Order: sequence, then structure tokens, then C-alpha cells
Amino acid sequence: MRILSGIQPSGVLHIGNYFGMMRPAIELQKEGETFYFIADYHALTSVRNPEALRENSRQVALDFLACGLDPERAALFRQSDVPQVTELAWILSTVAPMGLLERAHSYKDKLARGLASTVGLFSYPVLMAADILIYDSDAVPVGKDQKQHIEITRDLAVKVNETFGQVFKLPEPRINPDTQVVPGLDGQKMSKSYGNNIDIFGDEKETRKRVMSIVTDSTPVEAPKDPERSTIIQLYSLFASKDELADMRERFKKGGTGYGDFKKELFEKLWEYFSPMRKRREEILRDKSYIDKVLARGAKRANGIADQVMERVRTAVGLR
Ligand code: ADP
Ligand code: TRP
Repeated sequence: MRILSGIQPSGVLHIGNYFGMMRPAIELQKEGETFYFIADYHALTSVRNPEALRENSRQVALDFLACGLDPERAALFRQSDVPQVTELAWILSTVAPMGLLERAHSYKDKLARGLASTVGLFSYPVLMAADILIYDSDAVPVGKDQKQHIEITRDLAVKVNETFGQVFKLPEPRINPDTQVVPGLDGQKMSKSYGNNIDIFGDEKETRKRVMSIVTDSTPVEAPKDPERSTIIQLYSLFASKDELADMRERFKKGGTGYGDFKKELFEKLWEYFSPMRKRREEILRDKSYIDKVLARGAKRANGIADQVMERVRTAVGLR
């Protein structure tokens, strides 16, 4: 089985990225051949600062490796080190119905957030489909917000197969039911663009401050509190054992503990959870050339497959 996913280097990675995409991707390393890339072409739809793009791309590689991506098993590479994807995106765009892309939620959401409505932003899902199809991917681990993009990928693969014969495999999304949407400080989906994020490798003071600023209602300390819709409980469930979670839920219902104390417990658990990864991150940083070496090796493996698939595609459509 071939597993593939990508993440945009458009900012610092947060715990929504970790539980929604990175951890499932890392766990899947045991199940098959894994390909993970830094979607720098995609990030160009929002990042207009070349230094920031370069720096973020390295940071994403560093953070992914620190979190447990094993470069002996998984190929980690930059999307732009396989420029054939842009050729495939063009070919796919010639069969992509406008209406299909016009229905994409993420495009509409991005416009609503004030991003410029460029052709690149509109055809973002076509490039994403090319990313997935160019590696004959079977499974794509992503958070729930990317589900529609995988559906679009399947639609485009079917269109090509119907028009030109059997060219592409149909990929399946892998969405972890326990961590479909990680809430941010305000209870909405955690996202770097909403400013409600808790970063995986934020510094201690800032991380504590952010946890302490989780929005709660005004239930007084002594009163019972509702654990059901609490952001504190939802985030705590990501880090705590079953018993610890049950215990916190009981103390919510009992009353007598303020939200501030629960937040402190959440911070402690979160900080401890990422402690081995912070250590690993420090180690990686000591070897200046490590990340470049990993990315170069990953790009080579990715190119090997992309070249083969592209020859198949070019022949099927008549470019060879
Ligand atoms: P952001 O919304 O912060 O810009 P991205 O769109 O770059 O995040 O998402 C990268 C990956 O992380 C995607 O697979 C996405 O589904 C996942 N992801 C992002 N935010 C969350 C979240 N709050 N909960 C679960 N998964 C998430
Ligand atoms: N669109 C994804 C995101 O915003 C990133 C991405 C680009 C991706 N190409 C992909 C994810 C291919 C999975 C497969 O998170």
C-alpha cells in the first residue's frame, strides 16, 4: 500500500496539524510505503515572501522529523522538487469541470478570509489531485477539512480513466475519527489563519499563556461545569489517559475547581507530551546538513515514481 500526504509550509505547525495529519501519517509508516511532502507550490497561493517560504519549508521538515517521521521508512521531500506535478495538474485541469471546483469549500473559505482570488487558489484542488495521483497513492491521511479535496481527486481520476482508459488508481482518504477537528482557543477549528492555535513547538511561556487564554463560560469556581462542550476537556482528551480524562470530567461535574486549574493541568500534560519531540528537535538542529540530506533523498525516491507515472499519463493522452 502506498500512503501519501502533504502539508503547506504557510506557518508554524500547531497541535491541530499534529493530531489531524502528522500523527496519523507517522503511525502509517508501519503499514506501507509512505511519501510525505512539504506543499510549497500550494503555499505560494498565500505566502508572498520568498525568505519566509524557504524558512517555513525547512521548519516543517524539522518539526515532522522531530515528531517521529522516520526518513529510513518515509520519503520526505519538497513538492517543488518534483516539478512534474505541475505538468500533471495542467493535464488534469483540461478535464476538470469548472462546476466541480466552484463547489470547493476551501476556496470559498479562503476568499471569505480575504485571500486574493487568483487562478492558482481556484485550481488548488487540481494541483492537489496531481500530487496524489502522480504517486499512484492508495491512502491519504488528512484532517476532515481536506476530505472534499480527496473527493475531487477521485472525480478527476475517474474522468481521466473514462476518457483515456485505465490510467489512475483511486485513492482513499484516511481521516482519524478521534481527531477529525481539533478545536482552537476559541472552540472553533484550530487554524493558523484564525490565530487560535497552540503550536507544537511554541516556547514554554507563550504556550502556557495560550492554554490559559482558552475561552470558557463564566461558571463560578464552586459551581458544577459542563464537560460535554468544553474545549479544555476536548484538548485534554488528546493527551490524557482514559482514567485521567474520566477523572477530570468528574471534577467538572462536581464543581469546586475553577477553569484556571483545569487549564493548568492541560498545559502540564501537553508540555510533557511533546517533551521527547522537543529533545529530538534539538538533536536534529545540531547537524546542520541533516534536513537537506533527508529532503534530497526523499526527492530522489519521489521522482523515480513520478517519472514512471508521467510516462504512462503522457502516452495515454497522446503527448508521446
Ligand atoms: P491550517 O488550517 O492551520 O492552515 P492546514 O490547512 O495547513 O492548517 O492543514 C494541514 C493539515 O492539518 C491538513 O491535513 C488538515 O486537515 C490538518 N488540520 C489542520 N487543522 C486541523 C484541526 N484543527 N483539526 C484536525 N486537523 C487539522
Ligand atoms: N491541501 C493540503 C492542506 O492544506 C496540503 C496538500 C497539498 C495535500 N497537496 C496534498 C495533502 C496532497 C494531501 C495530499 O493541508
